[in-house]
Amino acid sequence: MKQKLVYYFSPTGGTQKIAEAIGKYAECPPVDIIVDAYDAEADADALIYFCVPVYGGRVPKPMYERMQHITGKNTAAVVIAVYGNNEVGDALMEMSDLCEKSHFRVIAGMEMIAQHSLTPKVATGRPDASDLSKLESFVKEVEAKYEKEDFSAPRLPGSHKYRKYVGLPIKPAGSLSCVGCGMCYDNCPVGAIPEKHLRKTNALKCISCMHCVHVCTTDSRYVPKAEQLVVYAYLKKKGALDRKEPKLYI
Ligand SMILES: Cc1cc2nc3c(=O)[nH]c(=O)nc-3n(C[C@H](O)[C@H](O)[C@H](O)COP(=O)(O)O)c2cc1C
Ligand code: SF4
Ligand code: SF4
Repeated sequence: MKQKLVYYFSPTGGTQKIAEAIGKYAECPPVDIIVDAYDAEADADALIYFCVPVYGGRVPKPMYERMQHITGKNTAAVVIAVYGNNEVGDALMEMSDLCEKSHFRVIAGMEMIAQHSLTPKVATGRPDASDLSKLESFVKEVEAKYEKEDFSAPRLPGSHKYRKYVGLPIKPAGSLSCVGCGMCYDNCPVGAIPEKHLRKTNALKCISCMHCVHVCTTDSRYVPKAEQLVVYAYLKKKGALDRKEPKLYI
């Protein structure tokens, strides 16, 4: 039987929902690329799905590091960019380049939408039933292409001269209700929480992924309301409240 897998990076669970749905439709296991993936080489005749959240129209930093450890042998791959209904930017192009460097050949790409991880008021409740139904038909098309051994490259959106992204000034911190459980420290994907000062954040390391807020056992880690409002106003101005739809590039 041919090897099939869905790798994902998902600090606040939206990309994970997409990865799990792909796993269901394609009948293969979803694997958290940060927690559960170690050095791995995919079989030459495998099909590998890579799901990433979009940060500033780019691929998040931890994905670069992980992709050094997961390689193919000219193996078929599908890249899925999950964004918060604002814009995908160069993320699919960048992800495709990363795959190529790791000896995968990209046969399809998808844009999917999930609730914005910096404000629940944008893309609220997505992916919804309509998104998942579209995703199911995308997966069928991709699987049919793979079965026909058609490994042609899709035309993906974006530029190889990736847009500049220097990160966001939004760095969550712990409040007085912190009980020192260490969940945030153990799970930060870039080691930005000092072991001896669990309520603090190293702003130079932090990628604003919100994973610590997502896993905090006491709702202690947070982003101040004023900063959340600034993000919401910015996204509103950029048209992120107008619904965007999933897309397949094949
Ligand atoms: C630091 C950061 C930057 C983001 N940049 C974008 C962006 O450029 N465009 C967009 O539509 N959404 C953007 N988002 C929203 C995420 O792409 C979106 O919410 C994604 O579903 C989060 O995935 P997760 O729930 O798996 O963490 C950003 C989120 C964060 C935390
Ligand atoms: S400290 Fe920053 S990088 Fe670490 S989990 Fe929290 S938001 Fe993400
Ligand atoms: S997860 Fe929350 S309660 Fe636990 S150490 Fe971190 S900030 Fe404190």
